[in-house]
Amino acid sequence: MTRIKIAPSILAADFAHLADHIARVGDEADLLHVDCMDGHYVPNLSIGPPVVASLRKATDLYLDCHLMIANPGDLLDAFVDAGANGITVHVEVGGTDALLGRIRDGGCRVGLTLEPSTPVDLVEPYLDRIDTLLVMSVKTGFGGQAFIPEVLDKVRAARREIDERGLGVEIEIDGGIKADNARVCADAGVNILVAGTAVFGHDDPRAAARAIRDAAG
Ligand code: DX5
Ligand code: ZN
Repeated sequence: MTRIKIAPSILAADFAHLADHIARVGDEADLLHVDCMDGHYVPNLSIGPPVVASLRKATDLYLDCHLMIANPGDLLDAFVDAGANGITVHVEVGGTDALLGRIRDGGCRVGLTLEPSTPVDLVEPYLDRIDTLLVMSVKTGFGGQAFIPEVLDKVRAARREIDERGLGVEIEIDGGIKADNARVCADAGVNILVAGTAVFGHDDPRAAARAIRDAAG
């Protein structure tokens, strides 16, 4: 069993003191999850390439950019230039073949994600072209929602497929993750736990991230 990675989601951080808030997670952050919302794909607006560029100067952490953007192709180059390490697009927006190719060509690690209501069959054809499969455990758009346990069936199915095909794809889960459900996610085959509210909503973000890691076992 590979070591679980913790990806604090800065959507729940204090945007006026972003670098300071991130620093408070210390070495308990393995990567930093950056939720980029466009007000179209989801009814919320958050972070774009200029903020990613500023984060790039403020931290050496891996910047894991989750694009909740209706037309991600329009902004891919800007995210690459801003210093993203990994870029994840939604299968629901279409044009997946071209998008994955462009992320790879840009030198970033390639991620694909799906909403809780989207069947796992839609991402399976791409497993040999991606580095990370992000399984959403809440409907995208907002932090602080309740974890949807039914998505673990998709994690198990994807894990089985990845292992059977001998692929090295990591499975990341995002939405409502906290110490209480970390173990069940890890047992289902998740490698990377994204947690926003459970980390940055806590007055000791480092201890909170540590608690999630410990709970994952
Ligand atoms: C939801 C985002 C999540 C969110 C998770 O659209 O993709 O990454 O920040 O937040 P919590 O951990 O609060 O559910
Ligand atoms: Zn996210």
